[in-house]
Amino acid sequence: MRIHSLGYIVVNASQPERWAEYGTQVLGMVDASDALNGDAEQCVYLKMDDRPYRIVVEPSATDAYAASGWEVAGPDAFAEAKAHLDRHSVPYTQADAATIARRRVQDLVSFEDPAGNRHELFWGVVSDFLPFASPVGIKSFVTGDQGVGHTVLPAPDFDTCLAFYRDVMGFGLSDLMKVRFTPDPAEPEKRLYFLHCNRRHHSLAIFEMENPTGCVHVMFEVDKVDEVGRALDRMQAAGVPLTGTLGRHANDHMVSFYMASPSGFMVEYGAEGRTVEDWSRYSPFQSTVNSFWGHDFSVGQA
Ligand SMILES: [Fe+2]
Repeated sequence: MRIHSLGYIVVNASQPERWAEYGTQVLGMVDASDALNGDAEQCVYLKMDDRPYRIVVEPSATDAYAASGWEVAGPDAFAEAKAHLDRHSVPYTQADAATIARRRVQDLVSFEDPAGNRHELFWGVVSDFLPFASPVGIKSFVTGDQGVGHTVLPAPDFDTCLAFYRDVMGFGLSDLMKVRFTPDPAEPEKRLYFLHCNRRHHSLAIFEMENPTGCVHVMFEVDKVDEVGRALDRMQAAGVPLTGTLGRHANDHMVSFYMASPSGFMVEYGAEGRTVEDWSRYSPFQSTVNSFWGHDFSVGQA
């Protein structure tokens, strides 16, 4: 299957209104809930470009990442993707009309990867092209053909998941890491693989560990480093915990910091992410360091 980009993310929250506050005042996105919620709906829709929304927060008893919404290029790509799921004996669920209307797409199926991470596959966004007007003055997020950003999902059954993402979902390998959290050489290394579906260095990464929140982190990219600094200021002013200090990643070159989100998983907020125009001329590498500088994650443990 050929995935175009990460179209949206779905989040579960026991207090969706916390996402409205966080999404607007810290992330700098637009709360589009009033325009998009149906009569009985209590979702929080966050808009970060000319799409109607890029994050949908659904009321739930639990706080967790719920699903990744992957866009394909059109009806033919969608039909081919479903046929590909059939060939690989991956069961999928056809969304009902109400769900399709709520997601504002033409058609949608959902399925799970071998680790139980939920994915939605869709084509054809319904859009009124209302321009993005950030409540905190951000000019633009880096989206378009690069999608929302990237998501890092737990994959304890790593080999099975990696095969699924490459063979079933069609992602390419960007690069990889093997990490230990202690200096003890007896501690088994955990693999972290970065995968692409467009020119963004990675739209998805999978990490060889369980995560009770359903996601390690989600990354949103702004158009300049000053906006990363301004977001750090807003994070501090809002009392949101910092979980990783400012730094520049060795693989995707992103200058970013990490913070908590209202649903438990982390949000990475960055700029200057690397793109690769021709993957056939790119060779994956293994990096032994996370970052050229910064990204101290011990602040998150403190
Ligand atoms: Fe990241």
